[in-house]
Amino acid sequence: MPDPPGRLRPALSGAPETLLWALWHRAAYSAGPLALLPDPLAADLVRRIDYPFRAHFGAPRPWHALRAREGDRRIRSYLDRHPEGTVVILGGGLETQFWRVDPGPGVRWITVELPEVVALRRRLLPEDPRRQDIAGSAAELAWLEALSGGAPPFVEAAGLFMYLDPREVEAIIRALFARFPAATLFFDTVPQGFAARTRRGLPVTRAWRAPAMPWGIDHDAIAGFVAGLAPGARTEVRTYADVAPWLAPAGWCAALVPWLRNAIAPCLVMVEGPGRPAQNASGRASRAMWSSTALTKRASRPSGKKALAISTYSLITTFGGASPWTSSAPAARNRARRVGSIRSIGHFATSARSVIWSIRACQLTASSTVLRKRSTSPSAISPSS
Ligand SMILES: C[S@@+](CC[C@H](N)C(=O)[O-])C[C@H]1O[C@@H](n2cnc3c(N)ncnc32)[C@H](O)[C@@H]1O
Repeated sequence: MPDPPGRLRPALSGAPETLLWALWHRAAYSAGPLALLPDPLAADLVRRIDYPFRAHFGAPRPWHALRAREGDRRIRSYLDRHPEGTVVILGGGLETQFWRVDPGPGVRWITVELPEVVALRRRLLPEDPRRQDIAGSAAELAWLEALSGGAPPFVEAAGLFMYLDPREVEAIIRALFARFPAATLFFDTVPQGFAARTRRGLPVTRAWRAPAMPWGIDHDAIAGFVAGLAPGARTEVRTYADVAPWLAPAGWCAALVPWLRNAIAPCLVMVEGPGRPAQNASGRASRAMWSSTALTKRASRPSGKKALAISTYSLITTFGGASPWTSSAPAARNRARRVGSIRSIGHFATSARSVIWSIRACQLTASSTVLRKRSTSPSAISPSS
């Protein structure tokens, strides 16, 4: 069937179709009151693609935008240190990170994707001499041959490893650090239990199921897993609640409890290879990298009102739309179905939790407002600052 005029109908299924899942959620948070990650190109792609985004993926949620925001931040930090470096995006889908980061002229930006996705990227994304797409599986490792000497590469695999066979994930990490001991790797994970649920068939909405995720790993196992593949590497593991506690206050509290953290927390993982510069090995540069994250986190934290709007909105859409006024578990569940919640369990306690989280969101909002007022008040600026 021909594409409707001006719009493209992608024929994707399985893992490649999930690129639309990520695009939909990122684009929703790219502008307007929920803006977390300004990205006009992503919003434009959603308009140009003929696909039932909302029916398949439900109401927008912030996690993909947060993941992308963290990826951008780490790539920018890497490019500050290596202005002519090489960025490799494994499983890039229709990620528009290249245009958000807008790297310098000496940078090589390589995306490794399956052939049908590379074909789609060529139809939809602007060309640029700094970037190159390699068609093939990231698991085949041929992309490693395309990397030349010079600066150690920054490799990102966002939303990819869970769709690979566990042995493929291990082979990629082992081969990357064997070949480039000073490389940096950024990837994300889902817990084993969540991956197992997708293998049994996890409905995201009534119209769409998440593809099976062969690989999952629990929070507390990640550092040991990486150490077994790249001895001497430095691994930082963060939950989304660590990255944006203002957005997921309940998740932040839950992540303090080890078994809950392992059971429910998808993670963002940053690995610096065993050959990182000596000052990194002592921890100084690494700390600088993470503290720069902490600094930008404060700078990029939304204003109080926006933080409240996003946390309330994400609470409603992620946890089944149960507001503090939803009085019963069946009512919460029905509302969950209407908004297309991924959470098929957990709605029984949602009413009580919603109340607690809403109060926590209000507290955070109030404290961020106080902080902002203090930081703008002349009396709060000490002579040494
Ligand atoms: C959830 S999407 C993530 C896309 C992108 N990273 C983002 O965040 O928007 C997963 C992507 O992994 C790609 N993928 C799956 N298996 C792959 C493989 N073996 N090699 C390369 N890419 C793969 C899919 O085509 C899809 O684009």
